[in-house]
Amino acid sequence: MKELSGKVAVITGAGSGIGASLSAACAAEGMRVVAADVDEAGAAQTVSGIEGAGGKAVAAAVDVRKRASLDALADTAWQTFGGCHLLCNNAGVMVNKPLLELEESDWRWILDVNLMGIVHGLGAFVPRMKAQGAEGHVVNTASMAGLAAFAAMGLGAYTASKFAAVSVSEILAQELEGSGIGVSVLCPGAVMTRIHESDRVRPMDLPGTTPSILASEANPEHVAGVQSPDQIAQTVLRGVRENRLYLITHPEMKPAVESRFAAISRAFDTAAAES
Ligand SMILES: NC(=O)c1ccc[n+]([C@@H]2O[C@H](COP(=O)([O-])OP(=O)(O)OC[C@H]3O[C@@H](n4cnc5c(N)ncnc54)[C@H](O)[C@@H]3O)[C@@H](O)[C@H]2O)c1
Repeated sequence: MKELSGKVAVITGAGSGIGASLSAACAAEGMRVVAADVDEAGAAQTVSGIEGAGGKAVAAAVDVRKRASLDALADTAWQTFGGCHLLCNNAGVMVNKPLLELEESDWRWILDVNLMGIVHGLGAFVPRMKAQGAEGHVVNTASMAGLAAFAAMGLGAYTASKFAAVSVSEILAQELEGSGIGVSVLCPGAVMTRIHESDRVRPMDLPGTTPSILASEANPEHVAGVQSPDQIAQTVLRGVRENRLYLITHPEMKPAVESRFAAISRAFDTAAAES
């Protein structure tokens, strides 16, 4: 989607971090923005920043774990701005625990937000985007943890959710080929956001236990090569304009992905040698 000005962007997780920056960057391009978050105060703050800069935006409450909430969000986008051209399924949460310490409630929460949040967004929006007959684009936020498995910081459930987000995006891109709706999957390394404080929006019905890895230790600020969310937003906009499937923001992390591919490739060679 080359032309962004005048179009409508709907962004989940817009109350903080990457989603807030993405909302501001879209508005700066002349898009009208629906900034949606389960943290309504955060979404409102994002909107007031956009309006202060002369942009157009509306805040919306959404819980991406629930399909009905995404349907209501689509209604808001169509009623307020007449449609949606750019859908950013960006809301995400992190729990930092070694795999065997993870509770079922941790798995449910992470998969419900990071995977089902995307699935619900696609279900609620893509058929309507197709029906409106205009060019469109979907960006799903995964992570570098969707391309390689890093055991450090207890990222097991998070990694499973992000591998799933990558594969959903790859399939979607194939299924939407030729439809006029492009697909990107955003795979950043460390970004300076509040992701390490995800517990602030953990639902009461999914109680957590104290992890052996402290939130402060999982703060992305401590990871080498950390970027600002504004930098990430610019990579996303370039990717939307160029219809790139994989949006890579941390090129220095390529060796981690290559070593995973190399291990898989060696396993094929072993199979070939033994057959
Ligand atoms: N920060 C990083 O280092 C990093 C790296 C790779 C990928 N990501 C991904 O980027 C995305 C954005 O995260 P961030 O880093 O900006 O963190 P963040 O915590 O600053 O922002 C995430 C936002 O998602 C919202 N959210 C959480 N649960 C929700 C729900 N059920 N419904 C609606 N909104 C919900 C939160 O309220 C918050 O505003 C996530 O998908 C995250 O996994 C982050």
